Amino acid sequence: MSKIALILGLGPHIGQPTADRLLSAGYKVATVSRTPRIASEEGTIHLTADFQDPSTVEPVFDQVQQKWGSPSLVLYNAAAMCYTGENPLSAPIYEFINVFNVNTTSAYAAAALVYQRDHQVAFFYTGNALNSMIMLPLATAGVGKAATAHWVQAAAKSEALRPARFYYLDERNQQGGPAGGGISGEAHANVIMKLAADPEQRDPLVLFQA
Ligand SMILES: NC(=O)c1ccc[n+]([C@@H]2O[C@H](COP(=O)([O-])OP(=O)(O)OC[C@H]3O[C@@H](n4cnc5c(N)ncnc54)[C@H](OP(=O)(O)O)[C@@H]3O)[C@@H](O)[C@H]2O)c1
Repeated sequence: MSKIALILGLGPHIGQPTADRLLSAGYKVATVSRTPRIASEEGTIHLTADFQDPSTVEPVFDQVQQKWGSPSLVLYNAAAMCYTGENPLSAPIYEFINVFNVNTTSAYAAAALVYQRDHQVAFFYTGNALNSMIMLPLATAGVGKAATAHWVQAAAKSEALRPARFYYLDERNQQGGPAGGGISGEAHANVIMKLAADPEQRDPLVLFQA
């Protein structure tokens, strides 16, 4: 198995701690965000893309493939939302589409592409409780989380896709509510490392606490 990881959506909370953990575990780590960065550590590259446009996903995979090969571990960690206050139907349609593209369409494109290239991939999506919990101002984000939780569960259920594995990560606080601002990158990295090392597809909805 190639030790190549791709993190789509690099930021300080989850993306960077997971990238650091993967690098220390011997992975080559490609990261992506809208902000250009200089990847100074050996075994890392940083690419730019904006996943509001799903057509930006394939060139990212092409660049990683050209440099190292196809990733065996993918974390889709980019997210978007359009606050709608108490009226969940108030999002401008173009924003609704952009948010949905970031939370669902580009993630689906990434899962489909990496599976085509490596049937052994472990694919992770950072979700939250919104796939099953209604929070009015966050409805546009919840639509995308719920949709992605659906196709992740479908991919996990399909025996035809094994040995690939697909997971929706959902960190909760000690009371069982959304982790929110208390999110732990370290806890995400722990869960990802454990599931990536497990050749079996486990329950695709992964609820965990830090
Ligand atoms: N379980 C929970 O309660 C909980 C709590 C918080 C977050 N989360 C989930 O964790 C995930 C990441 O959250 P986070 O922002 O805190 O993590 P993060 O690792 O700090 O950052 C994610 C990065 O994704 C990049 N990104 C955002 N939109 C993008 C786009 N359109 N195209 C490309 N890259 C994009 C951003 O960097 P650039 O600005 O440079 O593009 C951002 O810094 C989200 O899915 C979120 O829903 C869950």
